[in-house]
Amino acid sequence: ETHPLVLFMPSGRRGRFARGTPLIEAARSLGVHVESVCGGRGICGRCQVEVAEGVFAKHGITSAADHLSAWSAKEERYAEKRGLKPGRRLSCSASVEGDLVVDLPSDMAINGAVVRKAVDTREIPRDPAIRLLYVEVSQPDMHAPLGDLDRVFEALQRDWRLPRPTIEPSLLPKVQGILRAGNWGVTAVVAHDREADRPHLVALYPGLKNEAYGIAVDIGSTTIALHLSSLLSGATIASAGTPNPQIRFGEDLMSRVSYVMMNPEGRPQMTAAVRGAIRELTTRVCTEANVSPDDVFDAVFVGNPVMHHLFLGIDPTELGQAPFALAASGAIEMPAAALDLGLHPHARAYVLPCIAGHVGADAAAATLSEGPHRQDETMLLVDVGTNAEIVLGSSRRLVAASSPTGPAFEGAEISSGQRAAPGAIERVRIDPETLEPRFKVIGVEPWSNEPGFVEGAARFGVTGICGSGIIEVVAEMFLAGIISEDGVIDGRLAARSPRIVEEGRTFAYVLHETPDRSIRILQTDVRAIQLAKAALYAGIKLLVDRLSAEEGRPVAIDRIALAGAFGSFIEPRYAMVLGLVPDCALERCGSVGNAAGAGARMALLNREFRREIEDVVTRIEKVETALEPAFQGHFVAAMAFPNKRDSYPELVK
Ligand code: FES
Repeated sequence: ETHPLVLFMPSGRRGRFARGTPLIEAARSLGVHVESVCGGRGICGRCQVEVAEGVFAKHGITSAADHLSAWSAKEERYAEKRGLKPGRRLSCSASVEGDLVVDLPSDMAINGAVVRKAVDTREIPRDPAIRLLYVEVSQPDMHAPLGDLDRVFEALQRDWRLPRPTIEPSLLPKVQGILRAGNWGVTAVVAHDREADRPHLVALYPGLKNEAYGIAVDIGSTTIALHLSSLLSGATIASAGTPNPQIRFGEDLMSRVSYVMMNPEGRPQMTAAVRGAIRELTTRVCTEANVSPDDVFDAVFVGNPVMHHLFLGIDPTELGQAPFALAASGAIEMPAAALDLGLHPHARAYVLPCIAGHVGADAAAATLSEGPHRQDETMLLVDVGTNAEIVLGSSRRLVAASSPTGPAFEGAEISSGQRAAPGAIERVRIDPETLEPRFKVIGVEPWSNEPGFVEGAARFGVTGICGSGIIEVVAEMFLAGIISEDGVIDGRLAARSPRIVEEGRTFAYVLHETPDRSIRILQTDVRAIQLAKAALYAGIKLLVDRLSAEEGRPVAIDRIALAGAFGSFIEPRYAMVLGLVPDCALERCGSVGNAAGAGARMALLNREFRREIEDVVTRIEKVETALEPAFQGHFVAAMAFPNKRDSYPELVK
């Protein structure tokens, strides 16, 4: 007789198991992570699974919930004390009696911590670096004079097969009291010390402790974003962002590096500023989620190399000049206390590795999230801030570079440019016949030519044009024939449309004009976009060249992933019209949102991902754009719209 078939959702892993196998064991033997704090005693409730009847037929399994063992006494007890939703069972207690579909619920709300919003609905397989292990320690015995702490270790070995851990020194004097307060039942918070390759006892709590949290932080030069996740359920329970306070020392990366060079106090000031902001964000998300910062045991950080260095208190000056030497490129694991973030005093911190002097831990995190190294097709991953970080390749080979795009894509260095904020023009269409524009303003629902626009706009006024708006308006100007392939605004059109006006010795396009505000696209604005896009494209082109040389054949890009804030607002069609990125099927080019943040959360929830990205980073080949002789040629050719050298067959379609 064959054993019953068990299918675990959402992973879809399945296997056959002898009757009587506890579900938790079945799951684990298939590599499906099911949390457990109490080690199967039926008191933590962390191992809950859902056995839904409705889904059986869909998976070709005809069976009902009675293919599970009957409720055990410990399940009854748990349900009575804490409540179990209908269809839920404790997988440490319920065992296989027939074919089954088992769902791992993602909304595990235990001990009052409520799951507020899913930041990213993607399931992240879990194996966090911090674990909570409940043990019942044998009581002291005159005839077996083993110390309290040693009996804790003994219980951890017995119940969890945990090798003897090292211990946080300040914990030592507290062990006696904790054991007695918990009446010999304690929960150990255990981290894995990779240096020593052994477990490390971070904290000890009397009784059952059933919650532990971690934060994943993306330190951008403009914005810092932080997510608070439960290390036990994997759910992200609160997120928040704040402008990077270092902006007051310099808008872009290079000006912050020069601030450090010019001011002896510059480095410590900026380090304190970024850490302070992260501390405040942590307090904010913890308050929102009703979580004590003392329960935050792990923290993962990503950022570009300059942010990485300043956060860690390292002087970034070397990053400002060739050979762009990183002070530390590998991943960093350290006690979080050194970073002064107000987490649990013995919390751990992990910083993802940097790829190169200009390609940081944020690009590494985006790579981890999008996984070009896990696919056969060739993926181009682009994250544009004031610097573009570019990764290209597949499971065979990966190359990376950064390109100095400057801040034009963010609306800076543009005459009417501004940050994306209410009042900024974010979308533009131009009628190729009349050359009349329509536009959409952030915070205002209707488009400029629709009813209700004027009232809506009155709330903020139309204050300027943001990054996505500038890209769209230049692309639309090109499509309407207002600018030539070389980016020159055609003055002859002034005879045809009052929108084209003389401006010094060149011409400009009037996008919006009221008595107190004129938003014009000047020739210099078009140039700024040309320079930025040419730099981006030239960087991509160098990588395509390098990869083609390595693979001994011309490499075609199968998929383009636009990451970061830039990626989420820009429409792929316009990126291609302007020639920001190479030709690719439109439906295979799209935004992947905050990929760096997603990668940071993956590293927070699963230590395997830390190893994965550390390994991948060592294999990524770095191309230093500044030192490549071909860069200039690519750059000049890429100034044209969409591009002088390369065609866009997909765009023409
Ligand atoms: Fe704790 Fe099942 S493992 S209740």
